[in-house]
Amino acid sequence: MTDLDALVVTAQADFSAAPTPAELENAKARYLGKAGRLTELLKGLGALSHDEKKTRGAEINQAKQRIDAALTARRQAMADAELDAQLRAEALDVTLPGRQRGIGGLHPVSRTMERIEAIFGSMGFDVAEGPEIETDWMSFTALNNPENHPARSMQDTFYVDMKDEAGHWLNLRPHTSPMQVRYARAHAAKHADLIAGGGVMPEIRVIAPGRTYRIDSDATHSPMFHQCEGLWIGENVSFKDLKVVFTDFCRKFFESDDLQLRFRPSFFPFTEPSAEIDIAFASGPLKGQWLEVAGSGQVHPTVVRNYGLDPERHIGFAFGMGPDRLTMLRYGVNDLRLFFDGDLRFLQQFR
Ligand code: DAH
Repeated sequence: MTDLDALVVTAQADFSAAPTPAELENAKARYLGKAGRLTELLKGLGALSHDEKKTRGAEINQAKQRIDAALTARRQAMADAELDAQLRAEALDVTLPGRQRGIGGLHPVSRTMERIEAIFGSMGFDVAEGPEIETDWMSFTALNNPENHPARSMQDTFYVDMKDEAGHWLNLRPHTSPMQVRYARAHAAKHADLIAGGGVMPEIRVIAPGRTYRIDSDATHSPMFHQCEGLWIGENVSFKDLKVVFTDFCRKFFESDDLQLRFRPSFFPFTEPSAEIDIAFASGPLKGQWLEVAGSGQVHPTVVRNYGLDPERHIGFAFGMGPDRLTMLRYGVNDLRLFFDGDLRFLQQFR
């Protein structure tokens, strides 16, 4: 082996042994740098004769090319290894099962709302929504609530320190009953020509579920709660229809055909006669106990007039129930506040 061959072999071994790119560059300098071994050999050419210079120069150049090639190969190998390692580190295991998002569920009160809408929907009731910020005219006056009625009081009602364009004070609606007036007035306006011409107006059959507000807070009262209003007005709608419809609703809602209903005489300014509706289960922990679930009654003539309709021709009934309470009864929940605390341990039970 010539001295040059030996040099190439050592260089190759040196390059292969270099563990990092930096050390490879150091190794390169040992051969090809300014004071490198190959460089030194080239410098030594000056002392040779013309012919010797030619052969020796060519040999050294050849050795240089082989060392260069070894260097390039080692650099490439290092780059490949680095890329490999990086790819391996960033590798995605596409066979791993995906990470699931938590699956949400409907709030128990929303479930009740959906049930109410589905059951009344099947009986031909429309579903209406209305504003939660109401005028005192809609909340009280139109519903025949006298000026001094306790329901209007500051202790009961959240007032908004503002009036609408007509000068009516605004409040957070304390019940969904104003929706009777809003819906019936729109219905009467829509069919005004028909009614004026003596025609028979299509019946009003609507429920209006939504949020309501009162200054009230304990285990069975929350300042924000839910109500669902119902209204059925026609030329021939009677208290009997109310009993049929509401009995049907309760039995479907609680999935119990032997559920008992009781219409207990009561008072509401907007109905006459008025009744509180109580139910009693035929079995279960509450068996035989009368539980109040709704207020109801035949709509008062003054209210029908405020609908923009003639109380001599258009009669019917209204009712208002509490979906929160229905939910408590259906699922056996004993504290209303659980519905609004947002505690997942409670809510997850309804998924
Ligand atoms: N608005 C009444 C309340 O909040 C409930 C009610 C009673 C609604 C009788 C009605 C009704 O439509 O006829 O207590």
